[in-house]
Amino acid sequence: MVMSPSKKEIQIPPGSDLPKHVAIIMDGNGRWAKKRFMPRIAGHKAGVKSARMAVKVCAENNITALTLFAFSSENWNRPRKEVDLLMDLFINSLREEAKSINDNNIRMQIIGDRTAFSEKLQSRIAEVESLTENNTGMTLSIAANYGGRWDIVQAVQQLVADGVKAEDIDQTLIEKYLTLSHLPAPDLFIRTGGEHRISNFLLWQIAYTEQYFTDTLWPDFSEEHFIQAFCDYAGRQRRFGKTGEQVESEHA
Ligand code: IPE
Ligand code: IPE
Ligand code: MG
Repeated sequence: MVMSPSKKEIQIPPGSDLPKHVAIIMDGNGRWAKKRFMPRIAGHKAGVKSARMAVKVCAENNITALTLFAFSSENWNRPRKEVDLLMDLFINSLREEAKSINDNNIRMQIIGDRTAFSEKLQSRIAEVESLTENNTGMTLSIAANYGGRWDIVQAVQQLVADGVKAEDIDQTLIEKYLTLSHLPAPDLFIRTGGEHRISNFLLWQIAYTEQYFTDTLWPDFSEEHFIQAFCDYAGRQRRFGKTGEQVESEHA
């Protein structure tokens, strides 16, 4: 039997370089439920607990931003019943988690095209965003009806609407119009559930993000697994196109 790492065994070494912004594709809920002969929604409910853990671990480690992929623009293609149950779970989770998020000084925002959501869900989103908007701690972004391609298209639409001239467009300007523009780019991207793909999550923003893939299904992803991901990140050398020797001399 493969044992999960225990908290005692895995600790973030003091002085480790931690990511400022962590982005996660929380995948594997359905398979987690299937293994237990449970309905898929039971896996999504178990996934909410892991999301709560992720928020706690990141807040405790003074991470600036955590972005969680909750529902992709392609997830509408799932059976109607699952989509409806996911929307209900989203509404209920926002209500249940709002207080503790606010008490922990976390600012919460939803990124994605919210116009497709029910009025009830849209007003719940607006409530939690306004409740937490002046908080100064971690920024928690929930990507819902989000797609990386949608993000780029909405940025271009706004640029055009603002009458920006073609010759004034550069990467910095495009970045300003993308979601998450007020945050540093993700340093660490985690995908649970064994698939090695981006599934139209953040595209532009993860150009230089460190990628971490694990077979662990999201509901099984524990604090210890998270710390293991941080340790893996801390051991990497980010070169941004430079040579390893250049980076070493900069840190010397
Ligand atoms: C991720 O888990 C959650 C959502 C996409 C909403 P999945 O539901 O994709 O789980 P698997 O991939 O079927 O196991
Ligand atoms: C990506 O997972 C979306 C979320 C986790 C919300 P999917 O399970 O939908 O991705 P694919 O379809 O396997 O690529
Ligand atoms: Mg999946």
